[in-house]
Amino acid sequence: MPKLATFAALAALMVGASAQAATISISCGSVGAELEFCRTGAEAWAKQTGNEVEIVSTPNSATERLALYQQLLAAGSGDVDVFQIDVVWPGLLGSHFLDLSGEFSQEEVSAHFPAIIENNTVEGALVAMPWFTDAGLLYYRKDLLEKYGLQPPETWEELSAAAKQVQDGERAAGNDRMWGYVYQAKAYEGLTCNALEWIDSFGGGQIVDAEGKITVANPQAAAALTWAASTVGQISPEGVLNYQEEEARGVFQAGNAVFMRNWPYAWGLGQAEDSPVQDKIGVAALPKGGENGKTTGTLGGWQLAVSKYSDSPAEAIDLVRFLSSPTEQKRRAIEGAYNPTIPALYQDTDVLEAAPFMGDLYETFTNAVARPARVTGARYNQVSAEFYNAAHQVLSGRAEAAAALDALADRLDRLSRGGRW
Ligand code: GLC
Repeated sequence: MPKLATFAALAALMVGASAQAATISISCGSVGAELEFCRTGAEAWAKQTGNEVEIVSTPNSATERLALYQQLLAAGSGDVDVFQIDVVWPGLLGSHFLDLSGEFSQEEVSAHFPAIIENNTVEGALVAMPWFTDAGLLYYRKDLLEKYGLQPPETWEELSAAAKQVQDGERAAGNDRMWGYVYQAKAYEGLTCNALEWIDSFGGGQIVDAEGKITVANPQAAAALTWAASTVGQISPEGVLNYQEEEARGVFQAGNAVFMRNWPYAWGLGQAEDSPVQDKIGVAALPKGGENGKTTGTLGGWQLAVSKYSDSPAEAIDLVRFLSSPTEQKRRAIEGAYNPTIPALYQDTDVLEAAPFMGDLYETFTNAVARPARVTGARYNQVSAEFYNAAHQVLSGRAEAAAALDALADRLDRLSRGGRW
């Protein structure tokens, strides 16, 4: 009898334990190898804790991803416990997420770049933990620049000239698919990032300034977009007007572009064993807009947030703790070139060896230009849509830059009720 009782007790214990194991669903990915890195990280957590994870893949386009999240969250759906959210979304979505400030120690929080923690703090609540950061970079073909005796360009005008020279030379030598410059010009959030870089590099500001004033209609901004439009059909394929990150990477990684604007992840894939351009890639800061311009890159990056509608908030928070930890961020930096949000990792020799640009271009990451998401708050998504649509019109030759920017300023003025936001 005593033996039986022990068995029963043990069985009860085991049932209890398995009833506590949760299945946490995380929505992440999916540009490049993002989904795979999310899966391996989340599965490592599941294995370590005895829980299960379900990976919910999302559209590649940040714009479409946001629309999907807004639908799910507005319905109060608990289907997704952990959301991967863009650096520009805390103000838009923050009210649907748990405040993590009491869940993470001061030490855990202060290990991250303070500016990202501030970005993720909405009305005093830490609505997401930083996962990886991003800035727009210039990728170039080291071998081709060398072949033509060229240096990486310092201004956009130099980029145009170098792109044209190499494109013409390589076409004459037999690669008729060669292009000079590929980037993201589809009408979506990625074009907002590219166009902000052109404008900021020409000294044309940040669309809306920190006080909420609409500054986008200015001659430098017009010069920037006019330059960008000059690339289409010349050094960039017409198809660039429909490119997101992966279309640009596809052309560059196949060996058919001299220059590419993209985020750090493109390094990890471009340097892979099976990449035709492995060891032929250089990375630099984006060019300046003329001699008096500046190098810049748009601040991007992704955070992890826990839904208020989650049935298993404790486990969901634990998953966020695991994924945002220094160990996991180091793995992702080395294997996938995802920039850590933890400054100490930029001193880590393994990280710097795998992705030297993280050290060389440290300032590009820490000085990246922010989209006006904080100041425009709940209206950011509309601001961005107006902006990328205006930029797309100029790039596709449907409008002159100055006129398009004047019209944009009027629309933003109405949207903001006279700059009050
Ligand atoms: C990258 C950036 C993100 C940006 C998106 C635009 O994923 O990290 O901040 O919104 O690209 O396509």
